[in-house]
Amino acid sequence: MMATSDEIRFFHDRYLNEDAPWDSGRPDKNLREIMHSIRQPVKNCLEIGCGTGDNAIFLAQRGIDVTATDIVEIALDRAREKAKKKGVSINFLLKDIMEQDIPGRPFDLVFDRGCFHHFRTDEARIRFVKRTYSHLTPEGMWISLIGNADEKTNAPGPPRLSALQIVTAVEPFFEILLLKSSRFDSKQTLPPRCWVFMGKKRKGAL
Ligand SMILES: C[S@@+](CC[C@H](N)C(=O)[O-])C[C@H]1O[C@@H](n2cnc3c(N)ncnc32)[C@H](O)[C@@H]1O
Repeated sequence: MMATSDEIRFFHDRYLNEDAPWDSGRPDKNLREIMHSIRQPVKNCLEIGCGTGDNAIFLAQRGIDVTATDIVEIALDRAREKAKKKGVSINFLLKDIMEQDIPGRPFDLVFDRGCFHHFRTDEARIRFVKRTYSHLTPEGMWISLIGNADEKTNAPGPPRLSALQIVTAVEPFFEILLLKSSRFDSKQTLPPRCWVFMGKKRKGAL
């Protein structure tokens, strides 16, 4: 279930052609709000599908030791450049989360924005959830920003999942602490709706 060359090319071309509306140039306000409210100490974090790095940089600026992965080199190059300019050190790695273990695990926190929602079947989403699970400490948390299928539109936008699709994949492995409807933080006048998900790893679920 590795990312296919078509998937890699899809994202590569979107970054290359500056056709990446999710790439807002700033950390998502939903992540900023949730990090503000978390009481549990977070020493290290894995970001999956980090794109050009704005959220990873935000997390590193909070003193968290951040490892950030993507399958597109051009996105990671841009992320490394941004981090260098901001003077933060982040371990950016070209890795496919579905197949490759990420050095540095276990992590206190996994974050993804718009990566989980790209997987189109229950089977693929459950695999992503298990891969996330296996990278977390026993008390670890996963925060995900996910396209929201309650937005009925034919306009282009992110893949959109129903609450049921999320719960089906996640609930056996994570205690759901938050599943809230919001909007992505982007430069669009009316950004697409999203789910803000936060889950705590269940003990012994794998
Ligand atoms: C919609 S983009 C979001 C990027 C970034 N999180 C942001 O919010 O700007 C999804 C990202 O996930 C990456 N991705 C897709 N499949 C992946 C996989 N199997 N492992 C790691 N990253 C993946 C893509 O290359 C892309 O950069």
